[in-house]
Amino acid sequence: MFLQTENLTKQFGEVQAVKSISLGIEGGEFVSIMGPSGSGKTTLLTLIGALDTPTSGEVFIDGEPLSGIKDVDAFRSRKVGFVFQFHNLIGYLTALENVEIPMHGLVSGAERRARAIDLLKVVGLGERLHHTPSQLSGGERQRVAVARALVNDPVLVLADEPTGELDSTTSMEVIQLMKKISKEKGTTFIVVTHDPEVAKKAERIIFLKDGTISRQEAVKSESVEDILALRNSAFGAQLINRKVTDPYMENLGVFKKGTLTKEGEALLSILEKAESVERD
Ligand SMILES: Nc1ncnc2c1ncn2[C@@H]1O[C@H](COP(=O)(O)OP(=O)(O)OP(=O)(O)O)[C@@H](O)[C@H]1O
Ligand SMILES: [Mg+2]
Repeated sequence: MFLQTENLTKQFGEVQAVKSISLGIEGGEFVSIMGPSGSGKTTLLTLIGALDTPTSGEVFIDGEPLSGIKDVDAFRSRKVGFVFQFHNLIGYLTALENVEIPMHGLVSGAERRARAIDLLKVVGLGERLHHTPSQLSGGERQRVAVARALVNDPVLVLADEPTGELDSTTSMEVIQLMKKISKEKGTTFIVVTHDPEVAKKAERIIFLKDGTISRQEAVKSESVEDILALRNSAFGAQLINRKVTDPYMENLGVFKKGTLTKEGEALLSILEKAESVERD
């Protein structure tokens, strides 16, 4: 197990923000956390990211207790990337300069620049390197924040409502970008969100309530989701009903003279299989 919390508890005066949470997350896993306001989501992230210390309990990364780490600043800057709702970009610096900041003191100037440019290209901002935050859209700013979180090649990215201020299309773009990076680099992501559509892009959703985990939900594979969407489309309806309503289906070779072809039958059987996978 890459990350483990053991009876993790955080008390603020009378308030128990996090109550004895024991949670395991695999390396490379993409997890989302949902829960009502005040349920302890941000507090949990700050404890995992060593931005704050627990009242009791422990966080283990690769089996090592965080409480045993001598140089917490080095742990944070080298191992963890943070993305927050109010992205915290520095207004008078360009996108490029903002992304370079976390590398100061760790890599040389030339390499800083090269890495920042590479990452800004990865997040689709290769043409916006010298724009300041006020010259960028909300989604672009959030993508700069994602790039900034990734520059030191962290093993873990903690994102607190990274799509909180974005419209649904841009939210999807930002979350898909994070998923792509997680898959390519094997980076573990923990993403707090209020948006069920964003949460569903994770492999697992953890629900918090009153500082504890109320339930967890494994999310279906994306491919199955795609097939289910196809089943619910006009295309799927014609297959399932074995009835052509769009002549283009004949051009595609799915139907011939109004009857399903062999290929059509094969497609139909896959759509039907997806339905049974869904019920698992
Ligand atoms: N520094 C603090 N001092 C005192 N109480 C705090 C502090 N930080 C959080 N709390 C309290 O702990 C509880 C959990 O807060 P937290 O910020 O973790 O919630 P959240 O789930 O992130 O909520 P939201 O969805 O509104 O961001 C809340 O009752 C909050 O008031
Ligand atoms: Mg919060």
